[in-house]
Amino acid sequence: MELDALNLDPPRAPAAFVASAQRAAADAAVASAERASADTFRSIEGIARHNTRKVLDAFKAHRVGEEHFAGTTGYGHDDFGRDCLEAVFAEVMGAEAALVRGGFASGTHAIAVALFGALSPGDELLVVTGAPYDTLEEVIGLRGSRQGSLQEWGITYRQIELQADGHIDLEAVTGALSERTRVVHIQRSRGYAWRPAIGIAEIGRVAAAVHQRAPGTVVFVDNCYGEFVEAVEPCDVGADLVAGSLIKNPGGGIVPAGGYVAGRADLVHRAACRLTAPGIGAAGGATLDGLRLLFQGLFMAPHIVAEALKGAVLASRLFRELGYLVDPLPDDSRTDLIQAVQLGDPGKLLAVCRAVQAASPVHSYVTPVADRVPGYESQVVMAAGTFVEGSTIELSCDGPLREPFIAYWQGGLSYAHGRIALEECIAALSAPAASIPEPERLSGTQLA
Ligand SMILES: Cc1ncc(COP(=O)(O)O)c(C=O)c1O
Repeated sequence: MELDALNLDPPRAPAAFVASAQRAAADAAVASAERASADTFRSIEGIARHNTRKVLDAFKAHRVGEEHFAGTTGYGHDDFGRDCLEAVFAEVMGAEAALVRGGFASGTHAIAVALFGALSPGDELLVVTGAPYDTLEEVIGLRGSRQGSLQEWGITYRQIELQADGHIDLEAVTGALSERTRVVHIQRSRGYAWRPAIGIAEIGRVAAAVHQRAPGTVVFVDNCYGEFVEAVEPCDVGADLVAGSLIKNPGGGIVPAGGYVAGRADLVHRAACRLTAPGIGAAGGATLDGLRLLFQGLFMAPHIVAEALKGAVLASRLFRELGYLVDPLPDDSRTDLIQAVQLGDPGKLLAVCRAVQAASPVHSYVTPVADRVPGYESQVVMAAGTFVEGSTIELSCDGPLREPFIAYWQGGLSYAHGRIALEECIAALSAPAASIPEPERLSGTQLA
């Protein structure tokens, strides 16, 4: 197996020879993993074709023209380009309506707006996929105080753990529903957790069971990293409301900022009234000169998601061959972009993130260190040499500095870039141990 060739004997070979031989071995290992991934790549490309056609059909049905790219200023009233974009987006997401705005600060903001819109004082939020993503802890009120969290507004919270096999405990969910349960929250992607992502078919089963038991309950899906990975979206299978980020999948790697909420028209309206103000809702909010990129990003998104997914499959296969636990496995069917790799060591997590950073088009000369990031409790190390700050549809690799030191690999505007970065990661991990940052060589503040 080609990876054995990485075990060179450094003392007997000159350093330059070792480095070039390691690089050649890494290249051979990547080429072999690429060949082994051919069938999985083909199925990813098939989904990309299906989703590109879906997006194209929506553009055609809504007669998108250059006039829709003009944008508005000031109040942003009568912005027919924005209205057209939101109608196209809703159709693509299988939703009645959508709010697609550059004014959302992040996916967390879009999710918060969706939840604050759907929930009223006295209601209960029931999260059914275990602990929610780190940044939602403060939105819900599990961490922090005096910032107007859901709990501070009188919205109670309960959480149902995933089953041991990583699936939603449907019996526990339906058993937990009460007349106060207004929103059932499903987190589709794994977040910073070692658990499988929740596929569309499972989301459909949960939505059907919840609606059968409690028809008025809103099934909400945190759709971050999920868009265009499968052939249909959560609202196609019964979810009432979804939210996500435009610097992830649906921005196609070129949208500079923003997020979206999509779903039932009444719930999108309530979210819009939270984003702007009651009485204004979706009718206000200037788009300035950003509309062309929002349209173009949506058009590009299925293709870019496929490029990123192929990189994730390759990463899964290569890290597994190097002996690390990976999730998902290379040929597993996927519902999110994320590839988790359990490195088991803070030095290796830093080494991998630094290799990805060094292989980035922007800030390749920067050395990532672990630090505090707003919204996260643990210190986080992030490799993100991206054109759009923090964009994780662009190639990025990050993880909280906590056991078992998992690297979360995601994004990649081109498969070729992901492949090159993987060669660098293999070279970094197979370098003599001295070049891998040791935990004791990190400063105290760098450790969680
Ligand atoms: C599952 C999930 N939900 C929500 C978020 C928050 O998104 P953002 O970083 O855009 O606020 C993330 C971020 O990675 C995530 O993985």
